[in-house]
Parts: sequence; structure tokens; C-alpha cells
Amino acid sequence: MAQVQFFSGESIPLEMHKVRVVQKLSLLPVEQRQKCIEEAGNNTFLLKNRDVFIDMLTDSGVNAMSDNQMAAMMIADDSYAGSETFFRLERKLHEIFGMDFFLPTHQGRAAENILAEAFVRQGSVIPMNFHFTTTKAHITRLGGRVEELIIDEGLRPDGNHPFKGNFDLEKLRECIKRNGAENIPFIRIEAGTNLIGGQPISLQNIKDVSRITHENGILLLMDASLLQDNLFFIHEREAACKHMSIREITRAVADELDIIYFSARKFGFGKGGGICIRDRKVCERMKELIPVFEGFLTYGGMSVREMEAITVGLDETMDEQVISQGPQFIEFMANEFIKNGVPVVTPPGGLGCHINAREFLPHIDAHEYPAASLACAAFIAGGIRGMERGTLSEQREPDGTEPVAAVELLRLAVPRRVFTLSQVKYVIDRIIWLHKHRDLVGGLRFVEEPSVLRFFFGRLEPIGDWQQKLVQQFRKDFPESL
Ligand code: F0G
Repeated sequence: MAQVQFFSGESIPLEMHKVRVVQKLSLLPVEQRQKCIEEAGNNTFLLKNRDVFIDMLTDSGVNAMSDNQMAAMMIADDSYAGSETFFRLERKLHEIFGMDFFLPTHQGRAAENILAEAFVRQGSVIPMNFHFTTTKAHITRLGGRVEELIIDEGLRPDGNHPFKGNFDLEKLRECIKRNGAENIPFIRIEAGTNLIGGQPISLQNIKDVSRITHENGILLLMDASLLQDNLFFIHEREAACKHMSIREITRAVADELDIIYFSARKFGFGKGGGICIRDRKVCERMKELIPVFEGFLTYGGMSVREMEAITVGLDETMDEQVISQGPQFIEFMANEFIKNGVPVVTPPGGLGCHINAREFLPHIDAHEYPAASLACAAFIAGGIRGMERGTLSEQREPDGTEPVAAVELLRLAVPRRVFTLSQVKYVIDRIIWLHKHRDLVGGLRFVEEPSVLRFFFGRLEPIGDWQQKLVQQFRKDFPESL
């Protein structure tokens, strides 16, 4: 996005790319949309893509590639071992992060599996600013435990703290003291905390966490899957970093860390992942696991074409005009919602626009899943596929009780370089309509509930006939519209 002033005085994000490959979309009539969500067990993960108009489920693996990425894919060096493509990716990561070692994995959670297998034992404690679903699943699977040490502001959907993903340093010191450094194999920083609305962590906080972590002889690790947006926010919101380039900020962040892992489905505009490591000995602890779980050390489950695309995508990630598009579209959405009384997470973060479902639907009990209900309603209202990020995304306790999530959000993800502003405006319009008729929306209950990561393939049903009523209201307000 460019800093362009409009003569009209309007302030809208301006795309700094043009579209040269397109995919046709279709928008089903509202009656059919309701049938589709019913058939999908009221779970947006189970919808068929052909039935979706605006897919805002995630920004994972669905970002648009550039012409340069596509061109690079044509020169991939296909080889099981020793591919030149791998060495190009390895060199690029070294150039950006300054770490000597790189282990490839097929995606982000595969890196989490390797890290957990290498470091987590029964009774281990992993402190972090906030958990991510797959991260926690790997840690608890091996008998470890997560402690979340985010600042209190991070758990409030509203507010204007510029870095709601920051660690509370007092909580961090206390956590290390209480558990003992010997029981903490590493401390995990999530850059751009996914589940609380893509909220960033500041460079200063990373430096403070690094000091405390290293004073205690513990390894410091970053999940950099959402680092792209976080880099932009550091540049925009942290006074000391205003005049630093994105590359300089990236290196300043990396210099504090021992390990960086990432999902290249997000970071690098591709599909894949990996682990960058500073120290040879630390690398050795994980290296042997790669051929067992992922593939040989020079591809780790990734196709060579994807590795080429990531190498170019990493360079594009260092371009402020490229990485500002997501946050600026998200800010535009959030501001329009705020003007119209729709409750959203503030300040706007990365990844997507996050609607506060607890406030949007206060009449729905936490155990009847307000955010999941809102996700169904948004699909009925506009063929918009969002993702529940709330109580339904939590795992039950071993005794079967259901923890209520700290925040209850509907995420409308903004894949990079994919949607136009008119499509974003359509989404805003339909959500505002939904908000006017929020009293019509009711809750959900499980029909089939898997025991692990239940949000992926659990099936639910609406409590009562609210979906039919919503369709009737839509027809009344938009008699001619799809
Ligand atoms: N860490 C974070 C912070 C993530 O956001 C994700 C994925 C992963 C790890 C796992 O990476 O999907 O490549 O295995 N987040 C996606 C999302 C799924 O939609 O937010 P992966």
C-alpha cells in the first residue's frame, strides 16, 4: 500500500499490485447458503469451497503469488537430496535472520511437532505470551503444560494498547521462579498472537523477554508464522523503530532469539515451513527427527517449486509496500465496523478483522458458542466464510468440563493480495446488516464432538429455528438480491 493522498480527502487503502490471474466466484442465493451450512454441520471448516463467495477462513496457504514467485517455480532443482533450490532458501533465511542452521518441514505444525519431540517431556512447562491451537496440542500430547503470560490488556477485546501481544515481564519472572528454569525447555514468543486478534509484540518487549530468558539459561524461541504483520506494526507503532527498514527490524528481532520456526503458508507467501537455529548443538537435537517425520534434510516435505516460491516470497516480505496491505485492509474494515456500532477487536491487528462475538451476541451463552453461531450467520448473510476463534476452539479439560475462551471472536481473515476493496466493502455491508438483526441469531450445540482439535471436524446444530428466521429477514430486506 502506498502513502497516497486522495483529492477527495477520502482515506482508503490503495492496492500496489494489479491482478493478472483470476478465479471466478459464484454467490448462491440465501436459501441455498442456509442449506450448505446445515450440510456442513454448522462448521465453516466443513463447507465446500465452491459454495463460498468470500473465503475469509484463513490467510494460510491462500495468499496470492507474485509473477516473480511463479517465475522462480520454473527453475526449481528437483532432487531428493542436495537440491540447489533448498540451498537458495537456506541462504535467504540466513540473510534475513542471520541464523546458521535451517531444518525444513512441510508446514508450521510439523515444525511444532519436531520441537516438541526434541524438547518437551512429561512435566515440562512452556511459557508463552499466548498459545496457538496446534502448538498447545503438540505440547500437551507429550505431557507438557502451557503457561500464558500476556499483559492483561491482551485479553480485553477493546482498548488502544499498540502491542497487546506483549509479555507481562513480572508474570514471566514469577513463572520461571515458581517452575524452575530446569523444567522450562524453552520460552515461546508468538509474533502476532493469532487467537487474540493478531495482536503484535514490540521489539522492546522481545528484548526484555530475551534478557530474562537468557539470564535464566533458557532457550528463546519465536513462532514467526505471523511475523509479517508484526514487523509492519513495529515499524508503524514503535517510535524507536520508525526510521528502521523492515530488514533491519527483522534482524533486530532475530538477534534476540535462539530458534525461529514458521509456517510458510503465512510467512513467505508459499506452502511449507521450517526451523531456523542459531546453535549447532541445538540443531543436532532436532536434525534426526526431520527424515523420520518430514523428509530428507533438503526438502522436509516441501515441493521444490514451493521452496523457490518461498525464497522469493521472503524477499517480498521485507518490502513495506507489500506487507502493509493486510494491516491496512484490516484497519479499514475495523474502522467501518466501529462507525456502525459493530464490536471489533481494537486496535486492529494483523491476520484479519476480528469481531467480538461475545458483545455482538450477548444473549448467547458461552457454551452455545456465540462466535461459531456468528460464523454461520455470516455465511447465510453473505456467503462469507469466517472462522470461530473462541470457546469452540478450546479443548475440554481431562474431566470433561469445557473451559470458556478468554476471548470469543469471529475472525474474518484477509489473505494477502487476494481481495479487492469492493469485495471487502461487500463483507462490511453484510456484517452491518447482520448486526441490525443480531437478536435473530441463536446458539449451537454439538451433534458430533471430536476429542482433539474439535473445531476442525465437529458437527453442530442450531438451537431452535433461528436460521430460517434469518433467511426470511434477508428476503424481506433484499427481495431481489442473491
Ligand atoms: N503458529 C501460528 C501462529 C499459526 O497461525 C499457525 C497456523 C501455525 C503455527 C501452524 O502452521 O498451518 O502451517 O501448520 N495458523 C493457521 C490459521 C492454520 O488459519 O490461523 P500450519
